[in-house]
Amino acid sequence: MQERKRRKIEREFGVPIAGEILEPEFWTQTALKKLPNQGTLDLNELFGRTAPLIVDVGCGNGRFILGSSVWRESHDHLGADILPVVIRYATRRGNQRGLKNLRFLVTDGLNFVEKLLPTGSVTELHCYHPQPYHDPEKSLERLLTPRFLAAVHRVLVHDGQIFLQTDSKAYWDYIKSIVSNFFSFNERIGCWPDAPRGRTRREILSLKRGMNIYRGHGTRLNNLTENDLQKLESDLPMPLFTTESYLQKLDYEESQSNEKE
Ligand SMILES: C[S@@+](CC[C@H](N)C(=O)[O-])C[C@H]1O[C@@H](n2cnc3c(N)ncnc32)[C@H](O)[C@@H]1O
Repeated sequence: MQERKRRKIEREFGVPIAGEILEPEFWTQTALKKLPNQGTLDLNELFGRTAPLIVDVGCGNGRFILGSSVWRESHDHLGADILPVVIRYATRRGNQRGLKNLRFLVTDGLNFVEKLLPTGSVTELHCYHPQPYHDPEKSLERLLTPRFLAAVHRVLVHDGQIFLQTDSKAYWDYIKSIVSNFFSFNERIGCWPDAPRGRTRREILSLKRGMNIYRGHGTRLNNLTENDLQKLESDLPMPLFTTESYLQKLDYEESQSNEKE
């Protein structure tokens, strides 16, 4: 009788990572190493087909977008992060799972949305736990700004969706003060139904520490014009809030423990 192969399931903090590690002959190449010098990504060429696109900005080790690409084969997926080391973890997992509907790239999130994604190409944009930047001098490096949300609005399809999440109440209060200008936005109480133990590495870590997590989901306001977006960009406040001191400790620990369980 043929011996049944053991499925190779990976876990992080005890929580399974979607998909399973295949034999090397089935591995794929999920790293997108060459970015266009000019113009946007050619999505049809990249994926060899036309399909709804899901993106994760600041994807970290890629847990969410990996899971989505495993469960939604009919959709294409892009994960972007500014830090090469986390994209290396993400691509290794994507490759080992033989995923063809997923690519990862190293780039700044604003550059990704403003320059690399074609207008009206994204069905869902996800951003989980954007870096809160505790040093007041770095406040303006925060990703979620009126300019970023205007750029997200431009790349989303009609009725496109945005998903935002953080464990910083200060960041969440800021997000709520601006986001409804661009999206019909609803706060979500409790975990996402598909991931009761957390959609992302940071969410799992924060849940284990008993922290509050703020989640929300919105639909593009389709009636906004380019003039409206430009006015919102210039009129809405910048993210100059002060973060909670207890978060600084967690963030320091996390920066020291990339991928250690
Ligand atoms: C707190 S981690 C969250 C990672 C992941 N989304 C999660 O929830 O586990 C923040 C991530 O944002 C990335 N990041 C910080 N600034 C960025 C930027 N300007 N553009 C893209 N990614 C950025 C960091 O490298 C890091 O991986």
